Formats: sequence, structure tokens, C-alpha cells
Amino acid sequence: MRRFIIGGNWKMQVLTIGEAEKKAQTLATTIENIKCVEVFIAPPFNSLVSVKQIVNNTKLRIAGQNMHYIEQGAFTGQISVLSLLDAGCNYVILGHSEPRRIFGELNETINLKVLKALEHGLKVVLCIGETAKEREEGLTTEINNLQLSECLLGVSDEQFEKIIIAYEPVWAINNPYLNPGIGIKPATPNQAASAHKMVRDWIRKEYGHQIAEKIRIIYGGSMSKNNARELLEIKDIDGGLIGGASLTAESFSPIIRIAEELSNDNE
Ligand code: PGA
Repeated sequence: MRRFIIGGNWKMQVLTIGEAEKKAQTLATTIENIKCVEVFIAPPFNSLVSVKQIVNNTKLRIAGQNMHYIEQGAFTGQISVLSLLDAGCNYVILGHSEPRRIFGELNETINLKVLKALEHGLKVVLCIGETAKEREEGLTTEINNLQLSECLLGVSDEQFEKIIIAYEPVWAINNPYLNPGIGIKPATPNQAASAHKMVRDWIRKEYGHQIAEKIRIIYGGSMSKNNARELLEIKDIDGGLIGGASLTAESFSPIIRIAEELSNDNE
């Protein structure tokens, strides 16, 4: 059985350390009785250290929202894997569509970051996903498979166990900068189910059946308490990466609770 994992990506939405601390504290208290679900939040870099202190003796873990692939050097505006580890991160989100599609991050660069994070034992949440245009053009499988193969180049079987794949169709991410002029809507259960199956098939082909059955593939893109159940009930969906709805405990914790209920049902 794969364990559900739910991540909250706070992006650049929480602007002060005080606000981040308050949100982390409320969330930690609200999900105190969650037993089965792995939960992390990815606060902005400036509040990682303080949030870590708040969640230290709780089940909440913290993630970096990105990192550089070189450990130390003259790289203005970047953060090192060593700094993420020093702040107490267990995970790093890599290849998110915002750095990919807004700031031009390439598969090759993401691959170097994946390898560096794994070298240091960080768990990697690798995001992949097609745009609305790519989907319309029938390129969904091609784009996602290319992102998988180029971003995971050189990752060994053993290392792969530290990877979580987040399938996040760009058109479903609640971000008007990513999706100018199109109506943003979550993937339907059918769309999500077939994309997740496609990802698992790719893993099976490249890494074999055993690893494919173990790896968690989570869904992201306008996930909320309203659609979490129908998405998390799908066989190949092992959790969620949540942006907007992770910003308050009120909107985030019901999603975690649904995952907990489904874990108990599956036991
Ligand atoms: P959203 O963001 O839940 O606000 O659509 C998801 C993500 O970007 O990870």
C-alpha cells in the first residue's frame, strides 16, 4: 500500500515570518490526530527556519520550493541544497510549472537539481504537466514522458524511491500568470486517472513493476475539499500538491482528512 502524501505549496503568498508561523501552528494543531497521511508544507525561504521550529514535534514536515544544483557559489538569488537541509527540510519541490513556464527552467536544469537533492538525501517532489495548448494538440503523453525522462536522467532504482511525482496539468493550476486568458479548472477524475496511469506506465517501463507500484504519484491543480475525494479515490492518485487551498487550515485540513479517511478505508 502506498501512503497518501499531501503537500501545501505556499508559493510567494505568505509574506512575513509571523504569518507563516501562525499558519503552521494552526495547521499543526488542526491535524494533530492525523495518523496515516504524510503532510508537508513549503513556506517561502525566509520563513523555513521559524516554521521548522513550530512544527518540530508534530507530524508536519517542511519542503523547499526550489533549489540550485550547485552547492555553493556566486549565484545571486538562488538557494543551496545545504541551506535547505540546514533549515530542516525533508523535501524539495522541483520542476514546478511556475519556474518552468514563467522563468524558463529547463528539463536539463531540473535534472541536475534532482540529482543534487538525491545526493543529499532530500525527497524530491518532481512536478510535470502539459499546457492547455499541448493537450489540445494531442501532446499530453509526449510532453509528460519527455519531462519524466529528461528530469530523471541518471536516477538509480534505489534513488527513485525518494521521488514523488506530482502530475500538475498547467491549465489546472490556479494561476492566471501561467494561464492567461483561459478558464482554469481542475482536471476531471477521468483526465486525472488517465494521466496518472500514463505516468505509472512510464515508471513501469523504465524502472520495472516493483518500483512503479511503490512510487507515489500525486495530483496538483485546483485541488480543494470539494474535489479531493473524487480525485484521491482514483487508484493511481496517491495524494495532492495544493497551492491556494493550502493557505488556511480551514481549506487545507479537510483535504488531509479525506486522505486519512480513505487510508483507513483501504486498510
Ligand atoms: P493550486 O496550485 O492548487 O493553487 O492550483 C497547485 C500548484 O501549483 O502546486
